[in-house]
Amino acid sequence: MWVSRISSLGAQAIKKLTQGSLGQAAYTPRSSYFHACACRGVQSSLRPLQMQQYLCTAAATDSGKGENKDKKTYVINVTFVETDGSEKHVEVPVGTNILEAAHSNDIELEGACEGSCACSTCHVIVMDMEYYNRLPDPSDEENDMLDLAFGLTETSRLGCQVEATPDIDGIRLALPVATRNFAVDGYKPKPH
Ligand code: FES
Repeated sequence: MWVSRISSLGAQAIKKLTQGSLGQAAYTPRSSYFHACACRGVQSSLRPLQMQQYLCTAAATDSGKGENKDKKTYVINVTFVETDGSEKHVEVPVGTNILEAAHSNDIELEGACEGSCACSTCHVIVMDMEYYNRLPDPSDEENDMLDLAFGLTETSRLGCQVEATPDIDGIRLALPVATRNFAVDGYKPKPH
């Protein structure tokens, strides 16, 4: 009788434990991504999908043959040269675009259309041709918008269309002295 009662209680406890662990595996709250994000010093402006990709990449590397790659595998160095000539060095997570990186670091890059390639207010000038050549070619839509940019140069790009990749670690970007805002004149979106 007692043996049977004890084994019945044990079975119930195991069932509850199993359900609990399966339930946890099936649902991982998004906040955990941002917790991991804070631990790794990555800016919380990353969208959840980007963060998942970031963490997947990090996990794959961390588990690979015990070799922890340098932080620069995931974060690249970018220098913004402001209109007064002052420079701001920032670290940008791979996968973030230059407009997002600027807003996350209080750099005055407008981005009136908020990254939908429908204005030219996120115009930046790549200061080194070698780095410019490392970037993927601009799309037709980006070229159309660049044609409207104030002070267009041979190495101009739209910040919202340039993604941080390890190839451009160390890139230097100048902000143009002025922008043309045809969409919503004077509107400056706040960083997300
Ligand atoms: Fe409008 Fe980049 S923010 S084109």
